Amino acid sequence: MPSRRNVLKLIGGGTVLAATATGGFLHISAPSKPARAPWKKAGQYEELRRWCLSYALLAPNPHNRQPWLVELQGDDTLTFYCDLERRLPVTDPFDRQITIGCGAFLELLTLAAAQRGYRLNITPFPDGEDFTTLDKRPIAQVEFVADPEIAPDPLFAYVLDRRSNKEVYKPIDVPAEALTTLAQTGNVFGTKATTIGDTELATKLRELTRQAHLKEVTTPDAMQESVDLMRIGAHEVTANPDGIELDGPMFTAGKWLGLTTPETMGDPETYAFKEGVRLYEAMALSARAFGWITTPDGSRVAQLNAGRAHVRLNLKATELGLGIHPWSQALQEYEEMSSLYDEVHNLLGGGARIQMLFRIGYSTPVIPTPRRGLDAHLV
Ligand SMILES: Cc1cc2nc3c(=O)[nH]c(=O)nc-3n(C[C@H](O)[C@H](O)[C@H](O)COP(=O)(O)O)c2cc1C
Repeated sequence: MPSRRNVLKLIGGGTVLAATATGGFLHISAPSKPARAPWKKAGQYEELRRWCLSYALLAPNPHNRQPWLVELQGDDTLTFYCDLERRLPVTDPFDRQITIGCGAFLELLTLAAAQRGYRLNITPFPDGEDFTTLDKRPIAQVEFVADPEIAPDPLFAYVLDRRSNKEVYKPIDVPAEALTTLAQTGNVFGTKATTIGDTELATKLRELTRQAHLKEVTTPDAMQESVDLMRIGAHEVTANPDGIELDGPMFTAGKWLGLTTPETMGDPETYAFKEGVRLYEAMALSARAFGWITTPDGSRVAQLNAGRAHVRLNLKATELGLGIHPWSQALQEYEEMSSLYDEVHNLLGGGARIQMLFRIGYSTPVIPTPRRGLDAHLV
């Protein structure tokens, strides 16, 4: 193992040169390009459904699992399933968040279809549903119907630029009009979106989100679920374009030096772990505004609708030049999180189910996250 004192030098294009123990240099490349290729391939397909799906697969989704399977039928129909192997059993024991990500997928599919003059007839859970777990039954049946009345949705213009922005936000207040616009955008499909600026409540939420992150990373099973999904360095990200990408030269170099490995990232005694906690604390405390989305009940359809509302709000934030960062830990239904779950619902829920909680702010732009590409989703 090379010494930790080996030199890391950042040179043009985000490339790192690491001085090796033998005096040579190791060339470490920039973030994986192949893992981001699906963002460039969006809209490059002839057939209508594939064209629309190439946008839908860019949807936000928990831990970037992209658990979406699609069976094309005839000329104008598809059945949409969840890949049951791509769920998050520890932190999402009832598949609530995975279902929200499916809702975001369906909303981007809808926006793309409208762009081509098609309306979607979506039948959610056509064969029924189970509240405690997703199963082999479809999430939705979708029919594409040509409709001369349908108007393109202006939010479609932001699909390729949308991000979940996880940077530390700048100390700049978010204007009240922007917060109102975001809340209005998320008030769709029977969901309710609320936004707040830098109020006393925001101070409580900064602390609550900080604590919820700490609770997750110090709960061994929950942390292990994340660690197992870490893709460290460009090589691993290219091989598995999903999960938590720790991409770019610094992570590749850190891995090579033994600093950022799955073992060190999950061990509370290590520098890498402590740095992660410190970074998340800085992220939580930098929030200048927050938003949340509630639904009147916890049904599967409500979860799909929350995902649809969330991605619309995220697209509107993109239009307004704002970052959105979902911060879901306190909403999760595992035992160790229960007191923070109760706290956040008492604080914000008003008797409703909080489906999404996110910080809002101004930040530096971030590159797109990896995607698996269309072929990975077609069965
Ligand atoms: C239901 C849901 C929950 C999420 N929770 C978190 C979270 O707690 N922390 C986080 O950093 N990102 C969270 N995200 C954002 C995802 O990590 C992100 O969408 C995914 O990595 C893909 O990146 P992108 O949105 O930039 O395309 C969540 C997204 C969804 C849809």
